[in-house]
Amino acid sequence: MAQTSVCGPHYTQTKVCATRLSILPRLAYSHSFIITMPKETYDIVALPGDGIGVEVLNQALRVLRAAGELFQINFRVDEIECGGHYYAEHEMEWPEGSFEKCKAADAILLGAVGHEVNGKTVFTKPGKPYPEPQLAGYAQVILNRRELNLYANVRPVKLYAGVKHKIHGELKQVWEPGKVDYVVIRENTEDAYTGETNDIEDGRMTPIKITRRATERVVRYAFNLARRRNKLMKVTCVDKSNIIGAHRFFREVFREIGASEFPDIKLDYAYVDAFCQWQIRNPEWYDVVVAPNLAGDIISDNGATTAGGLGLAVGGNIGDEHAMFEPIHGSAPKHAGKDKANPLAAILSAQMMLDWLGTRHSDDRLITAAEKIEAAVAELLAEGKTLTYDLIGEEKASKCSEVGAAVEEKLRRLGS
Ligand code: IPM
Ligand code: MN
Repeated sequence: MAQTSVCGPHYTQTKVCATRLSILPRLAYSHSFIITMPKETYDIVALPGDGIGVEVLNQALRVLRAAGELFQINFRVDEIECGGHYYAEHEMEWPEGSFEKCKAADAILLGAVGHEVNGKTVFTKPGKPYPEPQLAGYAQVILNRRELNLYANVRPVKLYAGVKHKIHGELKQVWEPGKVDYVVIRENTEDAYTGETNDIEDGRMTPIKITRRATERVVRYAFNLARRRNKLMKVTCVDKSNIIGAHRFFREVFREIGASEFPDIKLDYAYVDAFCQWQIRNPEWYDVVVAPNLAGDIISDNGATTAGGLGLAVGGNIGDEHAMFEPIHGSAPKHAGKDKANPLAAILSAQMMLDWLGTRHSDDRLITAAEKIEAAVAELLAEGKTLTYDLIGEEKASKCSEVGAAVEEKLRRLGS
């Protein structure tokens, strides 16, 4: 069922121009190569998906609505039911025309996909609609990434002050804020994610595909980000090029583009297995990290450990024309329907969306809204009171909806 809602009062372009807040450095995780004018209304497609995706996205939308009111921005949100549970019922992953809506939107906000029936993950049936079975929810995540050319999956690994780490079942601060602040740029359209699997004599084979076009655009994104961050002026290429020939090609293209177009940026290399150790032991070594799809998937979850866990981990799927933002934690069926999941990753995804939209449309209202939402979340984390179980333990835990309400309240207090 699709529903459309408009949030935020109408405004005229003469009214624009919020004062920029200077307490936090500009995020600049996400950038857009195409800059256009501010818009009267921003069209957002919301894809709640499955499991906790639905719950956390609700909280992100409530914060977005509040930001619309506070900063005088119109958001038209079109919520589309989709994902594995939708497939289980309809043998389709979403209603007809939904992809076109995503394509027409200014940005997409995704919850999570992945549904279980009797403890088993739902896959699509052969021919319905793909020749091969795929994870039900493939259209929302993998096809949107590929078909909308969302080639850079931007996943910040950033530890906020006050966040505790859950290690050995106990919550304590292990890593230090300021020493965990890098961005993983995951190639988002190929590698082991082509969706192909072929029968072979004694099993099945899934290809790993790396093309020059996809590699060039993603490594350029990473180098440009390192320039804009102006921190270590370093990009680390993480792959398995000692063993996977296609990854050797990825690394060659990285080296070539780096040396010829970005002589001011240091080139750094790591094999993904060793990197998993270094990113835990010495996250301060990293600034921008670029990796093929599967390696990037793994190191962004691993990096999340040092930043407070998956409950805080955010991803922006960014291309030149479109973008989709999502918490990276997945649908967590065992936690679904309990109002207990951490909504902060979803809220920070909406925040990243505003940052990207603001840059793209030179719209200061959006940039200010993004900065203030981040400030509200940072304040909540620093206080350490109203948090979900993953950050504070079951006994003191607040509910998903209570954390969303607390962010909204702080945002309103920070005001416009
Ligand atoms: C992610 C997820 C997806 C991926 C799954 C749900 C297909 O793990 O966004 O990181 O592997 O890309
Ligand atoms: Mn993942």
